[in-house]
Amino acid sequence: TAVREKFRDALAHFGSGVVIVTAIDGDGAPAGMTVGSFTSISLEPPLVGFFAAHTSTTLPRVLHHGDFCVNVLAEEQHQLARGFARSGADKFSGVEWTAGTNGAPRLAGAHAWIDCSIDEHRPIGDHDLIVGAVDALAVPAETEPLLFHRSLFHGLRETR
Ligand SMILES: Cc1cc2nc3c(=O)[nH]c(=O)nc-3n(C[C@H](O)[C@H](O)[C@H](O)COP(=O)(O)O)c2cc1C
Repeated sequence: TAVREKFRDALAHFGSGVVIVTAIDGDGAPAGMTVGSFTSISLEPPLVGFFAAHTSTTLPRVLHHGDFCVNVLAEEQHQLARGFARSGADKFSGVEWTAGTNGAPRLAGAHAWIDCSIDEHRPIGDHDLIVGAVDALAVPAETEPLLFHRSLFHGLRETR
């Protein structure tokens, strides 16, 4: 409808960083999804959060594992961002990762990692708010960040 289109178009003008939230499912297989709604929430205690659509197949896996990793993406990782936004795809094929402190995948080449355990979660509209208590943080190497604005990925300098 016109309202949906207007909502999508206007909100696409709010740029963001890009993360991939990962977890381990009940069979021990890695799971993950691209997320732009990530934010830091609190310093004392350290809390972060994001919103996951009820239609996401990663959401129940994150809730089941109870822990997750926020992989803040580097500029070079825009293909990963697209790949992890495709529901049902074999997202981890060819992707290098190691298990973080809670077992959730830390993707190689990330701009930063934030290992979290779920502090609280609740439905808001057609999404769930997931609040994570921060257990460990790491900045593996100084890289450039990946940004998202009006359906396109950008770096801090050039656009593509
Ligand atoms: C840049 C970008 C940001 C996104 N942000 C979110 C988000 O914050 N929450 C969400 O539920 N989906 C978000 N998505 C869409 C999901 O990544 C997409 O629906 C994905 O297929 C979910 O996969 P799953 O069903 O395997 O969990 C975003 C997609 C892109 C490309």
